[in-house]
Amino acid sequence: MTAATDRYAVIGNPIAHSKSPEIHARFAAQTGHCVTYERLLAPLDEFAQSVQDFMRQGGKGVNVTVPFKLEAYALATTLTERAQAAGAVNTLRFDDGVIFGDNTDGVGMVTDIVHNAGISMVDKKILLLGAGGAARGVVLPILDQRPAQLVVANRTMAKAVALAEHFVGRGAISASDFGTLRTPFDIVINATSASLADDVPPVSPSLFSTVTFAYDMMYGKEPTAFMQFATQHGAAVRDGLGMLVEQAAEAFFVWRGVRPETAMVFADLRAKL
Ligand code: ATR
Repeated sequence: MTAATDRYAVIGNPIAHSKSPEIHARFAAQTGHCVTYERLLAPLDEFAQSVQDFMRQGGKGVNVTVPFKLEAYALATTLTERAQAAGAVNTLRFDDGVIFGDNTDGVGMVTDIVHNAGISMVDKKILLLGAGGAARGVVLPILDQRPAQLVVANRTMAKAVALAEHFVGRGAISASDFGTLRTPFDIVINATSASLADDVPPVSPSLFSTVTFAYDMMYGKEPTAFMQFATQHGAAVRDGLGMLVEQAAEAFFVWRGVRPETAMVFADLRAKL
């Protein structure tokens, strides 16, 4: 007897570039799970309709990408704590009419830094650059690692203040603008979208030292402008390709209850960039 095939998808607009189908096909093959995973292009004003259609057709869950993570949050009927903290959802699971919403981005990044790069966050001085959706999504998983200090810095400081206030009581978090930061951090995470424009957030080189680990959530064939800047000032660097793979592995776990191995998938994706 062959096992029934369960359908999953990644939904976004645009979606053609998404590497998620390739990643999940690898996870399925590795774990022996009988699943399909497709790309769904949702019209910008028809996200909820597109998800519900997929659900009615027997879909078991979707990953959600730009620009629909806030709409996915609104659509979910149950939310995990980390999705509530992120204010956004990147993973939906359909359980008999219940739409379960989770966010695996933050834990994906932390797993990539702590396990794959081997950089502990415990008692570290961590700087998070940016205060948009990408930054908010990683704050709680970082605080869960018990850093000595998490400073959120943003070009528009009011947004950093609002973000830090949102997490008061969850850990040692504070807000800053870029200009006043002058001393080195153990870990600097770029969660701004500056790399998309080949730009670097206007921070002082003195934030980096030879013991700094600098992480860019973006990735590409070449090191991002932020990574080049951090390297020039002594830091060890890593891009966000591992975050992409780890958030997918966590989503696979949410859906299937099994955690796939990520190292080979990561290496193959890197080789193909
Ligand atoms: P995302 O979902 O990727 O986080 P977003 O919510 O639009 O996107 O947030 C973009 C973030 O990148 C913001 O923190 C933005 O700073 P502002 O709040 O001051 O706009 C930051 N950002 C974008 N381009 C930047 C640049 N060139 N330099 C510094 N910060 C930049």
